[in-house]
Amino acid sequence: MGTKLSVNINKIATLRNSRGGNNPDVVKAAIDCQHFGADGITVHPRPDERHIRYSDVREISNIITTEFNIEGNPLEDKFVNLVLEVKPAQVTLVPDSPGQLTSNHGWDTIKEKEYLQRIIAVFKNAGIRVSIFVDPVERIVAAAADTGTDRVELYTEDYAKNYRKDKNAAVAAYVKAAAIAGENNLGLNAGHDLDRENLQFFKQSIPSLLEVSIGHALISDALYYGLENAIQLYKRALMI
Ligand code: PXP
Repeated sequence: MGTKLSVNINKIATLRNSRGGNNPDVVKAAIDCQHFGADGITVHPRPDERHIRYSDVREISNIITTEFNIEGNPLEDKFVNLVLEVKPAQVTLVPDSPGQLTSNHGWDTIKEKEYLQRIIAVFKNAGIRVSIFVDPVERIVAAAADTGTDRVELYTEDYAKNYRKDKNAAVAAYVKAAAIAGENNLGLNAGHDLDRENLQFFKQSIPSLLEVSIGHALISDALYYGLENAIQLYKRALMI
């Protein structure tokens, strides 16, 4: 089964914001990523707009020809309203706090079940596919099925951290989590710290993977290989 590569372009916005002005142009980057083979574009607007701005999200929504995935914390009304206005193909709900450097944990789908049911229904009623960010813990993935979500996105930081030490051990919890997702008819996405080295083995170990969203490593690789080559390298790692 094909796994889609959604390119997270937040880092391009971070570079732009470091100087003011519009270089690099994130809308152009989104157009080019699609042209270079990305199957989707991911953005993660945060309340302080320190990388992707809300206005970027609106502009990018006008040029999307692939799948638009907006990530963020639905506790912010501003985020919910933006997603409902833009109507992306997918919203990925992430429980990150406003000042956090990057996402560092998934939802507790047991404790937060009622809240997730309520907020997921808001997006689904608007015709938007929903994915929720979760740790690779069997009971958490099983409970995700009770929230009404379409998919879960497995948080892959631990896999990436332990990949070089022992890749089979590193992926084991994810393989189990993926099986639970499958038994519960949940689609499977993954992301965080996936890179050119660890991506292929992850995909080989979990053939049911529908989508990965990758930002930091891919955009860093683009400094050396160029954006088109970097995207093609990641696409190739998913083709097995
Ligand atoms: N998925 C989620 C939910 C994220 O928050 C992020 C980082 O913003 C990613 C995927 C992409 O992670 P990375 O930039 O490490 O590829």
